[in-house]
Amino acid sequence: MTERARYYITTPIYYVNDAPHIGHAYTSLACDVLARFMRLDGRKVWFLTGTDEHGQKVEKAAALAGMAPKDFTDKVAENFRALARAMNYSNDDFIRTTEPRHIRASQGIWKAIASSKSPKGRDNIYLGKYDGWYAVRDEAFYDEKELTTGPDGKKRAPSGAEVEWVEEPSSFFRLSDWQEWLLDYYERANPDFIGPATRRNEVISFVRGGLNDLSISRTSFKWGVPVPDAPAHIMYVWLDALTNYATAVGYPDTNAESFRTFWPCDLHMVGKDIVRFHTVYWPAFLMAAGVEPPKRVFAHGWWTNEGQKISKSLGNVIDPLELIKAYGLDPVRYFLLREVPFGQDGDFSRRAMVGRLNGDLANDLGNLAQRVLSFVQKNAGADVPTPGEFAEADNALLRQAHALAEVVRGHLTVGPNAPEFHRALEAVWAVVTAANAYVDKQAPWALRKTDTARMATVLYALMETLRAVAIALQPFMPESMAKLLDQLAVPADARTFAALDRALVPGTVLPVPSGIFPRHLDDAGR
Ligand code: MSP
Repeated sequence: MTERARYYITTPIYYVNDAPHIGHAYTSLACDVLARFMRLDGRKVWFLTGTDEHGQKVEKAAALAGMAPKDFTDKVAENFRALARAMNYSNDDFIRTTEPRHIRASQGIWKAIASSKSPKGRDNIYLGKYDGWYAVRDEAFYDEKELTTGPDGKKRAPSGAEVEWVEEPSSFFRLSDWQEWLLDYYERANPDFIGPATRRNEVISFVRGGLNDLSISRTSFKWGVPVPDAPAHIMYVWLDALTNYATAVGYPDTNAESFRTFWPCDLHMVGKDIVRFHTVYWPAFLMAAGVEPPKRVFAHGWWTNEGQKISKSLGNVIDPLELIKAYGLDPVRYFLLREVPFGQDGDFSRRAMVGRLNGDLANDLGNLAQRVLSFVQKNAGADVPTPGEFAEADNALLRQAHALAEVVRGHLTVGPNAPEFHRALEAVWAVVTAANAYVDKQAPWALRKTDTARMATVLYALMETLRAVAIALQPFMPESMAKLLDQLAVPADARTFAALDRALVPGTVLPVPSGIFPRHLDDAGR
């Protein structure tokens, strides 16, 4: 990732055929943490999320609900907005693909692609007929050779989605002519384009295997963006959907200030299931339209629930709102990014959730803060203590705490597998663990009777460590860390990553502390 003063980050836009679940919450949470980090690190940020409302999948869901597609999408899109509020996402915009600004942008990109030539000098769009397999659930076309036949005799896509045979007039995008260009883009022009490294390798070998032209319009249904000058054709929902990222910053008006400021997008965060659309089709569409491709696409893994695939038919969908109610918002945010190495698949279990909440949060961090702050309140005059000269043990802890800005920045932005949220959190917890060992060893409660000057130094070092930890954790747990920084009397303008090495001012009056992370008790109250 390059160092720039601005940062544009997007979530995928969510299909509105269904209620939001933990997988949706996860993609946007990762974006939110990065967006908050980038703002605290001095960048101007645009963070976009929204809903993908066209296509057969949504049309069918609306019919099933007995509603007109537009009424249905109005209703379901609202659930995704509610999720964004409940998860405390700091998104700057929420786009819906049914908005006029987006219809205009989608038709604009179509026209730009249609009037350009492929790298081999041929028209990028041509009219033909599609005869082949289509999976409505994935809104994707498949080759016969990619399919398997199940025991029920039905053909299925690699994702498990049922496919149907489609025969209809269709426009095609000349994707096959973009193969060399794409390979050059991944391997030479922008080696950071795809993360993590494993996904990058998969995409490169897929493209090396050869690309077929892509059907980009449908004529057998109506719920979508009409193709300019060919209203019997509806744009392929993925071409429409991908364009949302450009719509939101002003496309097709490429001279708009928002477009000039934020395009090309710095990061599209996606799940591993939709990598091909974002790393093969999207950069080719954009180049054909004469627009620079995004800087990076990162694919995270998938969650299972207590070892099982999450699916509506298995009845094991995890509702993020229910989790927040049971465990609290910030513990849920922390758990999702701490439990599983980002980029890999992970399993959700209530036991692991409670373990993290009671262990890492209530015990390690919450208890440390509560012990130190209530001790200062009762025994050190309720203001920031004045330290004497620091001993080596104090300096060692403070050095580790003050390095957090740099360390967290590194894990979130540097290397082929960045962002590595779990590593950033591990690094913060190494400091929390060191502070717990330090408080036990230095025993300020004993110093109260023997050496109050030394006690003040130790308490100061602990509060300084808590300040650095709280600043570093703000992107992950904004509400609780704001509370902790309030309790440390850190002014609002001294909470950025740049302010991490600005020390606490001795003598600052402290408010009465209160616990940040209550333990989770089971039904028996344990
Ligand atoms: N509408 C398309 C995206 C268009 S972007 C131009 C779409 N929508 S989705 O609602 O099906 O999925 C949105 C995101 O949620 C994807 O990134 C997907 O990977 C993620 N998840 C859905 N289920 C998931 C899990 N069980 N675990 C983790 N994330 C998963 O795809």
